[in-house]
Amino acid sequence: AKEISDEEKLYRYNGVLYSTLLSPEEHLKCLEKMQAREDDIMLVAYPKCGFNWMVGVMRKIIAAATGVKSESKIPPLMEFYGPENLKKVDEAPSPRFLGTHLHPNNIPASFYEKKTKILVVFRNPKDTMVSFYHFSNSNPALPSAKSWDTFYSQFMSGEVAWGSYFDHALGWEKKMDDPNVMVVTYEEMKQDLSESIRKVSSFYGFSLTDAQVQQIADASTFKAMKESSASSHGNMGNVFFRKGEVGDWKNHFTPEQSREMDEVFNKLLIAVCSLNF
Ligand code: A3P
Repeated sequence: AKEISDEEKLYRYNGVLYSTLLSPEEHLKCLEKMQAREDDIMLVAYPKCGFNWMVGVMRKIIAAATGVKSESKIPPLMEFYGPENLKKVDEAPSPRFLGTHLHPNNIPASFYEKKTKILVVFRNPKDTMVSFYHFSNSNPALPSAKSWDTFYSQFMSGEVAWGSYFDHALGWEKKMDDPNVMVVTYEEMKQDLSESIRKVSSFYGFSLTDAQVQQIADASTFKAMKESSASSHGNMGNVFFRKGEVGDWKNHFTPEQSREMDEVFNKLLIAVCSLNF
């Protein structure tokens, strides 16, 4: 990546901050015209909510259910595509497995028009922020987090790549009753991964045997995915598979920060608050 300053690493698109290097404006502009298919398998998550975990799970579900290994040469996030990858995706056979961290308002309109089924992964905002804090200091494409307190303020005001967690959650909150949208939480996956695998499979109309579900769950534990992360994520393996736990926020938040985040969260969001975090 070319050397650019922290200030230049983010820019605004439709009011939301994005990474200049990873998802430049040209990419997002041409993505707007992307044509969805009704049978696309679409995964959406705000950064650090367990997107890569669900990518691993979904690829295994699709392979077990259809016998088709999903194309992994194309970046997993559609905002990274650019014209060349977009063309490849346009020509790819169904079912296509697609993913994004984009704000629901910036997802290409065609996905809503075609009523593509969208799986959304949420994670409690405190652990999401902790994970994002560490990630910012390990990913050269993002501005580095100057200090915990500074990052806390930026996260709370949405001054981070992909924008505000709370805006994303609000966007999905309005669509949670849509039968084509299903929400799964990181915490629910931690609690009973087999159950989440069954839930996701049936949402997409796949039927897996108990043995297949068990096999996928065993291969998708944090330990198993971290061990294979060098081949799946190259030298970013340890960055994407850091700690994999619920409640690491207790090691970072001051009582005051925790209280403030609870307040914002409870005031803004109703349906999302009732999720099993
Ligand atoms: P931590 O930084 O808290 O460890 P994303 O893929 O959206 O960037 O999310 C990354 C977070 O998901 C990281 O959280 C990572 O460790 C966690 N994660 C990845 N795979 C996991 C797994 N199999 N089980 C539990 N957590 C996992």
